[in-house]
Amino acid sequence: MSSSRSYMSGFGNEFATEAVAGALPEGQNSPQRHALGLYAEQISGSPFTAPRATNRRTWTYRIRPSVTHKPYRPAEKGRICSGPFLDVPTTPNQLRWNPLPLPEVPTDFVDGMVTLAGNGDPAMQSGVAVHLYAANRSMVDRFFYNADGEMLLVPQLGRLQCATELGMLEIVPGEIGVIPRGLKFRVALPEGNARGYICENYGQPFRLPDLGPIGANGLANPRDFLTPVAAYQDLDGDFRITSKFLGNLWEAEIDHSPLDVVGWHGNYAPYKYDLALFQCINTVSFDHPDPSIYTVLSAPSSIAGTANCDFVIFPPRWMVAEHTFRPPWFHRNLMNECMGLVFGAYDAKAEGFVPGGMSLHNCMAGHGPDAETFAKASEAELKPHFLANTLAFMFETQLVLRPTRWAMETHILQHEYYECWQGLKKHFTPPGNAAH
Ligand SMILES: [Fe+2]
Repeated sequence: MSSSRSYMSGFGNEFATEAVAGALPEGQNSPQRHALGLYAEQISGSPFTAPRATNRRTWTYRIRPSVTHKPYRPAEKGRICSGPFLDVPTTPNQLRWNPLPLPEVPTDFVDGMVTLAGNGDPAMQSGVAVHLYAANRSMVDRFFYNADGEMLLVPQLGRLQCATELGMLEIVPGEIGVIPRGLKFRVALPEGNARGYICENYGQPFRLPDLGPIGANGLANPRDFLTPVAAYQDLDGDFRITSKFLGNLWEAEIDHSPLDVVGWHGNYAPYKYDLALFQCINTVSFDHPDPSIYTVLSAPSSIAGTANCDFVIFPPRWMVAEHTFRPPWFHRNLMNECMGLVFGAYDAKAEGFVPGGMSLHNCMAGHGPDAETFAKASEAELKPHFLANTLAFMFETQLVLRPTRWAMETHILQHEYYECWQGLKKHFTPPGNAAH
């Protein structure tokens, strides 16, 4: 691949990039004959008629149009599930899982995906699926695209080199990457083992949240998002494309690499973001703010202020609140909270929630600090304290996240999770009734 790790900065920009000079026609999108003999093909990531602010499309100039593949046939979908998620009755219990074990046999990124939970339905373009992945082998002769949703990748272990139609997106733990719906890509694992989390968003694409009174800057700043420059393969051979389409996997043969886009322009493109660049805003007086203050990206539903999915992080930060219980408070929520941990420890859990693990607290399920954390935080001296070496995150969704059968039957489910709260004892002492 004529690959370069070069990126263009900005969120949702109108980018223009060519790997070979002259790949982008000047002054028009679809010339009668392309100067370099490339085909023009538009990828529409929104309806043609979407309002300008949410309109997404990219013009590609490629060696062959995307349609030049053999017919798709049903393929084995392994442990990948899609909505509607009706495998098993959805429990109201708090759930937590250990990290997905690394595979013992050669497993690529697609084969290494397993679905933990989800909601909505790709057929309705609403809802999400939460997948874990554990892999140890690069995709070699195989490409993947997902017509069911965009994919937010959160690596926890190992570098992902995502060669996409629009260029090379390389992400490491501590960064995220987003592959738009429909874009073909191949994942190489230069470090061998790789593990992480995926939010497959069936709905409207992730965007930056509104900032309201915060102002024009802060949280994730647009200039820190990076989109790859054009890079292409001019490669004949026996390849296959795996398609995720309405919950099933399909496979087609193709006699060349579909990553053959020599130049492109538009605003429908993959991007990455280094979570260390998130400007964390928090209290400088008292009380723990609502965790929405940590929103990196938000995928809206049709209801204002109600996200199909928010991607929220809990990064290293100063804790300075006075006369305050500093960890996240006890909580019940209409929204549904699925949390992962990239590294370090999360400030509401002393143990059991480990990097690569995941927890799920669904609609109105009580959750909060474990007994040990509660005891410690209630007595802690409230001097300024830097919470270092921690990166937890949350996929927070409008609809209940229904665990898959695999998630409820796997040995990595922590059946004893509830015990972490059982040590929370009664401390109530009515006035004048003090214990003797
Ligand atoms: Fe919560």
